[in-house]
Amino acid sequence: MQLLDGKSCSEQIRQEIAQTVSEIRASKDRVPHLAAVLVGNDGASENYVAFKVKDCAEVGFDSTLIRLDATISEQELLDKIDELNRNEAIDGFIVQLPLPAHIDENKVILAIDPAKDVDGFCPENVGKLSLGLPTFISATPNGIMELFRRYDIETEGKNCVVLGRSNIVGTPMAVLMSRNSNPGNATVTIAHSRTKNLTELCASADILIVAIGKTEFVTADMVKPGAVVVDVGQTRVPDDSKKSGFRNVGDVDFENVKDKCSYITYVTGGVGPMTRASLLQNTLKAHQRR
Ligand code: GUN
Repeated sequence: MQLLDGKSCSEQIRQEIAQTVSEIRASKDRVPHLAAVLVGNDGASENYVAFKVKDCAEVGFDSTLIRLDATISEQELLDKIDELNRNEAIDGFIVQLPLPAHIDENKVILAIDPAKDVDGFCPENVGKLSLGLPTFISATPNGIMELFRRYDIETEGKNCVVLGRSNIVGTPMAVLMSRNSNPGNATVTIAHSRTKNLTELCASADILIVAIGKTEFVTADMVKPGAVVVDVGQTRVPDDSKKSGFRNVGDVDFENVKDKCSYITYVTGGVGPMTRASLLQNTLKAHQRR
């Protein structure tokens, strides 16, 4: 078994980006600028956004964090997005999800200028992804593809099962893995809560990508010997032994699955850091396009 080490891979990517930023600075150009909108005080979202801001500083990007009260109206949030769309100093921005229940996430995503949608969530960018056109690819699936690329994982002709069909991870992941590209060219099945014979299906996968948000859902009997297993899950569970009072648990029962795999990611040094690096790549791309 070999670990797919997203931590070290993402460090490499950050170094590459930092190098590009120092060249941008040397040419007296404006450096890339990412804005992040955080509505409310959800603990996990606070953490994710704090990492995004920290990552920007580390590679030399400018960043702006916009904190909005959980009670903000949908229209006020849409007005803020309009302002960010027009702000010439900002190359790209994200609105951290999930949003409070009174705000329609789809309306918010539709309001973002596709040229600044570094999350790759809006219809124009999702459509371009499906057509194989250059676009901002959603950070988590893009980060997983980058891991496959950097570890030279063979995907062509392999059976790939994607567990989870979210707009952010499962669906774009399946599109990317089935595309005529390397990595890609896999035979892809999307599995979800209504899928029958899930254990058998997962156990037939050469590549199993798990993004269902259920802790330690994938057990050893669901994994084919020699499979590549990617765990997107990261759920906080209470843990009094930790200073933070919680620990992050993945969707895969890592301890019992790991020895069956050829490659496996681990929480939190696998997919998470790659997602963060992908957002930086997209922000750099947004800057370069302008
Ligand atoms: N919430 C969980 N993952 C993401 C992400 O990649 N982008 C945004 N905007 N919100 C998220």
